[in-house]
Amino acid sequence: MKLFDALMLRGRVLLHAGRELTQDDVDLLRTKYARLSVRVGEPILDDVLEFEDDSHDREVANHATGTIVRAMTHVRERFAARASLRELNVGALHASVGQVVEYIKGNRPTAALLNSCLDTQSYLAEHPGNVFYLSMLLGSAVREYVATERDRQTIAKALRPDFAISLTPLGLGAMFIDIGMLPLEALYQADRPLTGAEWRAVFDHPNAGADMLPDEFSPLGKMIIKTHHENFDGTGYPDGLPGNKLHIFTRIVRIADAYDAATARHVYPSAKSPAQVLWEMTVGPYRQYYDPVLMKVFARLIQPFPIGAKLTLTDGRQAVVVRYNRQNPFLPVVVIAFDRDGNRLPNDKLQGPYSLEQRRDLRARLFGEEDISFIYRNTLVDSPPPRPAIMTTLFEAAFP
Ligand SMILES: [Fe+2]
Ligand SMILES: [Fe+2]
Repeated sequence: MKLFDALMLRGRVLLHAGRELTQDDVDLLRTKYARLSVRVGEPILDDVLEFEDDSHDREVANHATGTIVRAMTHVRERFAARASLRELNVGALHASVGQVVEYIKGNRPTAALLNSCLDTQSYLAEHPGNVFYLSMLLGSAVREYVATERDRQTIAKALRPDFAISLTPLGLGAMFIDIGMLPLEALYQADRPLTGAEWRAVFDHPNAGADMLPDEFSPLGKMIIKTHHENFDGTGYPDGLPGNKLHIFTRIVRIADAYDAATARHVYPSAKSPAQVLWEMTVGPYRQYYDPVLMKVFARLIQPFPIGAKLTLTDGRQAVVVRYNRQNPFLPVVVIAFDRDGNRLPNDKLQGPYSLEQRRDLRARLFGEEDISFIYRNTLVDSPPPRPAIMTTLFEAAFP
């Protein structure tokens, strides 16, 4: 078995993506991280097929999220030592976020390939790293759109493409959104319904978080923190502001935060697979909570089925993902490599590559054990969206 996503511990890579798992690795992961589920593949086709190389995208993600996680671990340590966060060195913080922003800009990933974090304890440090990174990629993609639109409409072609929006406040806001949950960290482990007072504290974490930070902290960043649970359709908290009142950075962070929380299987027992979450947020029942234009861009950055993933088709044959489809990540390019009985086809009998988007007669049904037939459904036409339910768990406060 080969590991799809790198496993991270406190911002550092523990096991690299692509590593062949030994029995010792598996035993160690099982005993230490019982709730962990990792995505694995068969390395068997590696020397026969040409796979898209996504190591660059992984490398950029590792570096960017690692830097932010280490910064947030430091912030958490200060909090634990009862040092006020209002004394944080804002200048140094702004500078290091600016550096990561520049690094991402200079290394342009095309897909957001996140790693799996292993330490449940420091979810509040790991989660910001992912939210930061996803927000940055979405922000960069949108900035380009804004820049090209402006170039097309005006004669101001001499302006630098990054003139319009600086992404540093977006990054600062994104990494600190859940800082207000620090005092409530124990609630993540609570095996009981939360009390009324605890719920009020949870719903207040956006405002409480902004108030914990120094006065010199980026005002736009603080605004993002205060509004990061507001929904596009006005059903969010704390104020229930509708999409047209929400800054574009808020709408970006909302998507990044919801996606990362909803897929955090090591934290929430009810978390879901990346494919399921992405589908629910784009065309599924929760789409009205997110800015639809941004969601479209986001879906192109997320790859729910990694290179090398084995998808079972409706006829029982198995196909291996060899290239991403950036327009529709649910329908990647595959090679049919296993027959109905799971036997590997001889090299000269391999079929493809086929785009699942063009070959609609080839339908994917399973990814590992997971039934993925929902990727062909669209509740925009199939059924009306459900009404938002009353929240009973912390997971529901985070997703949808
Ligand atoms: Fe939050
Ligand atoms: Fe969050």
